[in-house]
Amino acid sequence: MNTDPRPGTASEPIETAGRDELAAVQLERLRWTLEHAYRNVAHYRESFDEAGVRPEDLRSLSDLARFPFTAKEDLRRNYPWGMFAVPMREVVRVHASSGTTGRPTVVGYTQRDIDTWAGIMARGLRAAGAGPGDIIHNTHGYGLFTGGLGVHYGAERLGATVIPISGGQTERQVQLIRDFGATVLIGTPSYVLTLADEMERQGFDARSSALRLCICGAEPWTVALRQEIEKRLGVDALDLFGLSEVIGPGVAIECLDTRDGLTVWEDHFYPEIIDPATGKVLPDGELGELVFTSLTKEAMPVVRYRTRDLTRLLAGTARTMRRMAKVVGRTDDMLIIRGVNVFPTQIEELLLRHASLAPHYQLRLSREGRLDRLDVHVELRPEAAAGLGRIEREDLEAQIRHEIKSYIGVSVGVHVQEPDTIERTLVGKAKRIVDERA
Ligand code: DLL
Repeated sequence: MNTDPRPGTASEPIETAGRDELAAVQLERLRWTLEHAYRNVAHYRESFDEAGVRPEDLRSLSDLARFPFTAKEDLRRNYPWGMFAVPMREVVRVHASSGTTGRPTVVGYTQRDIDTWAGIMARGLRAAGAGPGDIIHNTHGYGLFTGGLGVHYGAERLGATVIPISGGQTERQVQLIRDFGATVLIGTPSYVLTLADEMERQGFDARSSALRLCICGAEPWTVALRQEIEKRLGVDALDLFGLSEVIGPGVAIECLDTRDGLTVWEDHFYPEIIDPATGKVLPDGELGELVFTSLTKEAMPVVRYRTRDLTRLLAGTARTMRRMAKVVGRTDDMLIIRGVNVFPTQIEELLLRHASLAPHYQLRLSREGRLDRLDVHVELRPEAAAGLGRIEREDLEAQIRHEIKSYIGVSVGVHVQEPDTIERTLVGKAKRIVDERA
């Protein structure tokens, strides 16, 4: 046990408390949340009444399955403040996600929520191996997106030095990573790769720099991509998960000691996995949709919020709290190509097996007659592009086509392109799917 008195260095007792103690805390907090939501949010009052349940019906954790789900549409319908459980004058901050269709999803925080969030985020950064003395280069967008400020407050709480650089201006970012001696880099995996490319362009070798840790999240990424980042930057690359509806970044994170999936901070967020088609709760270990109930949030409690993220829950390792496996993808990003379900991460995994291919790719969907057509566009690595003739490139395309057909079961077009021909996302999340079917 670390006895350093600074806030960022000692773990909290609940992190290693036994399952029974944790369950008791969860049950008490769950009761409070249901009561708080039912009393103060018209939406929950109506949905509980409709389902014929009252907060007091929760006697054990498994009773939660009797309560109705909350969906993104419920938040949209109650735009902007309808899901808040406290008067507006107690809300000190609002975040929102843009959403590709219609109204944004709005979330709110009391001062205590902000403090709780900073504490959870600091706990996560510490579990990932960061601490006081670290220089944290935070490339997540500052603004309505929760990434920038969420990570920022946690890093400050940890006692680290934060560089609130946000996204964009990649050339300058590399200069500052070098000049300021960043030890921890935080961002989306796709933007971290863009930074890695720029470092190479500038002749800056991160492997011999102070940088030792990369904490990536906000979008799905594979183990193959993790290895790529680790190799090129000479860092440990760990996974950070969260969503604005539940609080923002920090809901779950990978611990440096074990690097085996993301520890869910179960004393604040109660996870379930359900069958997305039937809504039935699935046992731990099975793949399904992740659902969260907040346990301590004041301004905007969420009850059984359907994340649309597909993953599994696993027993704890580094902590007693359970882990979630790397997210496979979102139900809304799942492509159904002639009846076959395809996630971008499955394609990413196959592409990155080829040493000559760069991790920059895009999936284009179009219509061929009545059928959907999927084309995979991927870049060559600069060092491979020069030595690869037309015939070899066609062979490579044929081989990838064959692999995708045999591993995923779908016929696709494959286009191996010159370096730097696929659009980079300089702010926010990578756009892996381009739908040209309209
Ligand atoms: O992306 C919060 C965040 C910021 C997480 C910074 C990590 C780092 P939203 O914009 O509300 O919030 O998007 C949430 O992003 O439901 C997942 O589909 C996806 N997502 C977030 N983290 C991961 C991850 C932030 N580590 C949605 N792996 C979630 C896979 C992730 N998907």
